[in-house]
Amino acid sequence: MVQQKKIAILASGAGSNAVNLINRFNSTDSPIHVATVITNRVKAAVREKTEAMGVECLYFPKDEWLSGHEVVKALQERGVELVVLAGFLAMIPNALLEAYPDKIVNIHPSLLPRHGGKGMYGIHVHEAVLAAGDARSGITIHYINEHYDQGAIIAQRACPVMPDDTPETLAERVHALEYEYYPQVISQLLLG
Ligand code: GAR
Repeated sequence: MVQQKKIAILASGAGSNAVNLINRFNSTDSPIHVATVITNRVKAAVREKTEAMGVECLYFPKDEWLSGHEVVKALQERGVELVVLAGFLAMIPNALLEAYPDKIVNIHPSLLPRHGGKGMYGIHVHEAVLAAGDARSGITIHYINEHYDQGAIIAQRACPVMPDDTPETLAERVHALEYEYYPQVISQLLLG
């Protein structure tokens, strides 16, 4: 059997993308496998959800994130090749950037460079899109570097913004794009 490529998901919140990725990848005949989920929030809902699916969820408190060494050790021990952020809301420490150069990807719920940067996550992004009167929104999948939302863009997909949208209805449309395209892009990065 061909050896599976291992990925890790980093998540801080609800974890619906993490659940989607585990559903897509963690079947016996998948060439990609979610080896671990890692969070920086002790009470993140993603913990319960992914553990219920049989995937471990490791929690690292703030000081361990800041150094990054324990996180890198956990990833390397599990043979992780690609680190996938899915609603992860902390800076990636240098130790992790150095251990996984061009092997850390993020998904952002807007068409970067619009509505990116510090404080721009989740529902705040959709509120900003509506406040700006944008006709389109969407998703951006990009590499991670030391600046928030500024790594090289890998893929973008757009959707319309409707006149009667609320942040919640727009979030739902954008989430649907995330569920469809994030697994595809990860597969392409790992398998070509
Ligand atoms: C997703 O929409 C993701 O794109 C966004 O947080 C949400 C997490 O949802 N990430 C960012 O805003 C990063 N700046 P989930 O926890 O249900 O997957």
